[in-house]
Amino acid sequence: MTSPASSKPYFDEVAGQWESMRQSFFSEAIRDKALSAAGIRQGQVAADIGAGSGFITAGLVARGVRVIAVDQSDAMLAEMRQRFAEVESIDCRAGEAEALPVDNASVDAVFANMLLHHVEHPAAAIAEMARILKPGGVLAITDLDEHTFEFLRTEQHDRWMGFKRADVRAWLEAAGLERAQVLNTEESCCADSSCGTQRADVSVFLAVGRKPGGEAPSADDIHSAVRDHYGAIARRSDPDLAVVTAASCCGDSSSGASCCAPALYDDALLENLPADVTGLSLGCGDPVTIAGLKLGEAVLDLGSGGGIDCFLAARQVGESGHVIGVDMTPDMLDKANAAKARMGVTNVEFRRGQIEALPVDDATIDVVTSNCVINLSPDKRAVFAESFRVLKPGGRVSISDVVTEGAGPDGLPFDVLSWSACVAGAIDVNAYLDLMREVGFVDVQAVDKTEGVGGEPVRPSGDLRVYSARITGRKPA
Ligand SMILES: C[S@@+](CC[C@H](N)C(=O)[O-])C[C@H]1O[C@@H](n2cnc3c(N)ncnc32)[C@H](O)[C@@H]1O
Repeated sequence: MTSPASSKPYFDEVAGQWESMRQSFFSEAIRDKALSAAGIRQGQVAADIGAGSGFITAGLVARGVRVIAVDQSDAMLAEMRQRFAEVESIDCRAGEAEALPVDNASVDAVFANMLLHHVEHPAAAIAEMARILKPGGVLAITDLDEHTFEFLRTEQHDRWMGFKRADVRAWLEAAGLERAQVLNTEESCCADSSCGTQRADVSVFLAVGRKPGGEAPSADDIHSAVRDHYGAIARRSDPDLAVVTAASCCGDSSSGASCCAPALYDDALLENLPADVTGLSLGCGDPVTIAGLKLGEAVLDLGSGGGIDCFLAARQVGESGHVIGVDMTPDMLDKANAAKARMGVTNVEFRRGQIEALPVDDATIDVVTSNCVINLSPDKRAVFAESFRVLKPGGRVSISDVVTEGAGPDGLPFDVLSWSACVAGAIDVNAYLDLMREVGFVDVQAVDKTEGVGGEPVRPSGDLRVYSARITGRKPA
């Protein structure tokens, strides 16, 4: 269903108030998710199409990315220039989405937030966006799912009443993009009608696709994209909004995003843990309970995030025991250390470091735990080899992680496009267990979390399946 009218006069008129209007429509979580999906990094160039007052551009600039900001409205561009007067890395250009004023193959990523439903020819706009991508570049579009709120057309000059996801995916593929996916953001866009009688609340999708060619992302690229993603979640986390039961796997618990069962922990376990710890629970299981910890044990948690598993482990090993949490994201470590100080816990310490090169001495740890982290590592073998090194003889690993049965498209594991949940680098469960065996672990086993403690070992079915598993193993004594 379309409306022929161009939205340009409308946006010229509202340009001065757009920044406050847009804040009431949708949250910054949408921007973080789009930027994470693209894996955009410092020093790269991105285009923000339909830049408006610079919602996406602001996030890109904060990440050290150079931006070509394109908008049809001169008044919007004037707002942008004023708002970012001090920033040299933004190039504002007037232009239409179907005829972008940008050279072929010149940008590393293209973003279009809430633009598509305003353009006359969405498929042509997507083809244009694909044209300006460098080989290997990523297109990330956030827009509205199909809806029935007519007032958004008549009052806010939407041309399209949202989109069917299948159509968007087909447009990405027709534009020559590979690995096209249309994902759930768990976010929505809200607006009231002018007479106040109607409120639109429309879910927002994230469509991503990559231009063929280019180099695969390096380990540094992946680390930096993961760090940016979790740094943004940590900065956004608000103890007052924290909801324990919305704990989610690699998503953002405050937004309720989840790829796994909503309640990871037994309620009794979480008693007396502060909301800023439980609210930053981003795991996909309960590795501490599986570990069966004993008083006095030394525990190492890989990718400790906001610290929930470290604090749970600390209670179980007691004052004679010790827990180390390692994480590479400074904002996560800040959150975890702040919670530790407030709780007055003395047997936990958080160290900055990568799980592929642990800042921990050889043979000093009884139990290595990890919750929804190893799937994010570009070098899982190094993670297991390091875990083996730091464990005492006879020490054990207790992991909750997302794995697959079978491989992703093209026979490859999922890649950074799969921002949502813990599928960024999830690999086949048998390959995962083989890596553990290769570095020396014995008695390795993976059990589908939904089968409960003592469930049957996973038996691959041949079809691609992504799920959360309990993974255990032992270093020979
Ligand atoms: C999904 S969150 C899980 C956090 C925590 N385990 C939990 O259950 O809430 C992933 C965490 O792992 C960290 N991380 C991911 N890759 C890492 C790596 N290679 N080295 C160190 N930390 C990493 C991220 O910074 C983030 O805090």
